Amino acid sequence: MRVAVISSEAVPYSKTGGLADVAGALPKALKRAGADSVLITPCYLQTKGEFIWSTAIEDLWLEWRGRSYRAKAFYSEANGSPTFLIDAPEFFHRDSIYGFTEDYERFAFFNHAALVLLKRVGKKIDIVHLNDWHCGFAAVKLAHLRFWDVFWKDTRTVFSVHNLAYQGGFGSGELWDLGFGSRFEQDHFAFEGYASAMKAGLSASDMLSTVSPTYGVEIQRSENGYGLDWLLRARSSRLSGITNGVDYEVWNPETDELLAANYSWQDLSGKRTCKRELLDQFSLPVDLDTPVFGTVSRLTSQKGIELIQQVAGEIINLGAYFIALGSGDRSYEDFFQRLRNAAPGQVGFFRGYNEDLAHTIEAGADLFLMPSRFEPCGLNQMYSLRYGTVPIVRAVGGLHDTIHNFDRVSGQGNGFKFGPFSAGPFLEKIYEAVFAFAEPETWRAIQVNGMKEDHSWENAAQKYIGLYKYTLQL
Ligand code: ADP
Ligand code: GLC
Repeated sequence: MRVAVISSEAVPYSKTGGLADVAGALPKALKRAGADSVLITPCYLQTKGEFIWSTAIEDLWLEWRGRSYRAKAFYSEANGSPTFLIDAPEFFHRDSIYGFTEDYERFAFFNHAALVLLKRVGKKIDIVHLNDWHCGFAAVKLAHLRFWDVFWKDTRTVFSVHNLAYQGGFGSGELWDLGFGSRFEQDHFAFEGYASAMKAGLSASDMLSTVSPTYGVEIQRSENGYGLDWLLRARSSRLSGITNGVDYEVWNPETDELLAANYSWQDLSGKRTCKRELLDQFSLPVDLDTPVFGTVSRLTSQKGIELIQQVAGEIINLGAYFIALGSGDRSYEDFFQRLRNAAPGQVGFFRGYNEDLAHTIEAGADLFLMPSRFEPCGLNQMYSLRYGTVPIVRAVGGLHDTIHNFDRVSGQGNGFKFGPFSAGPFLEKIYEAVFAFAEPETWRAIQVNGMKEDHSWENAAQKYIGLYKYTLQL
């Protein structure tokens, strides 16, 4: 089976969030599971030269908005599987990956280039696996192309929703120019008077998936559906939830070269060294018996930062440390900075994006906070599990599917989770966790439960292959 994974970001070539982790790791896992996979992603200004191995195609000619455009395709296997990076400076050499008013055009171009490239490479593709709104364009194109281009006749599409909140909306008047002239194509995009690339992907793809089963159920309800719940309900027989995996080649305390010491569930002593290193890095006084609460996150309302704001004072009153890494909404950044200024002996904050520090926090913290408003899957809670950093999460989406309350009687459970989006229930779990932390044996049991779990991609890749096979029979 030959699978082309198309994504707007993929580790190690580019990253703004978990989508990149997934798109980087899945093709590698598919390859290991026996599929012939290829990844296609843009080459951004941010893509480091060391990851580009060669130029695969010097002249990828594309008809675009009435003119001929010459793009290139680079080749790499830096993520462990064959990858083509579309090089088109006009669209992708910007100071950030997203955030431009013409993003819809940039990714429509990317989708067009990806399909032209795949045909030029010439190997028939069974499944094109599309991710989020940035790939909705290709879903529509392929639904159309398969009727008149023999190369695509047997190709089927799977569209994964990583985050329904971002929909890629633009004026319907643009569709013709972007190459979607037919009524059939335009209907897929039509959404409340404008064009939505997310709706197009959901409407035109053969099969849909979400990155956790619970999120797949949540987005069929009006309160989480962003106006598309009716479509998800209508297509629910084609919607499946597969929880993301973790790339343990990158996120594994036994081998992680970014840590001050390595450790495993059999021998956790290195974790104390990592805690010391973390406190040192933030110039905090070192008391290894005091719990460290950590968080690594995009600072947006999705991540429930309001709730962290509401409980932060209590965490300080408890005498604990609190360390945050993130960037995003200015008001949240300012809040963490103020908290740091108010309690410089207990709080650490790094504003920005820092891969190495994310590892240092995962290893050095005792507890990881993730009280998300909604969370399609979430990766940090799973990284935390492997690093023996006990997660406190809100019971939504993938957080609900992966974190289970610790039960003192049975000794089962890997963390703490609460339901209502409110500071009270969150605080209850914080207290419960701090009490458990004070009992070394209990704490170790929770840590070990999480560390022994297997959230590897092998499992998820098998599920995707099952989904692809099912899709091919439709
Ligand atoms: P989302 O994709 O919604 O941001 P996920 O939990 O799926 O959430 O994935 C977030 C990914 O981005 C993780 O790999 C996390 O470590 C990383 N990340 C988020 N913010 C930062 C940051 N400020 N610095 C480094 N890594 C970050
Ligand atoms: C999105 C979601 C996150 C998920 C990631 C990868 O960014 O917000 O929950 O883990 O995609 O699927």
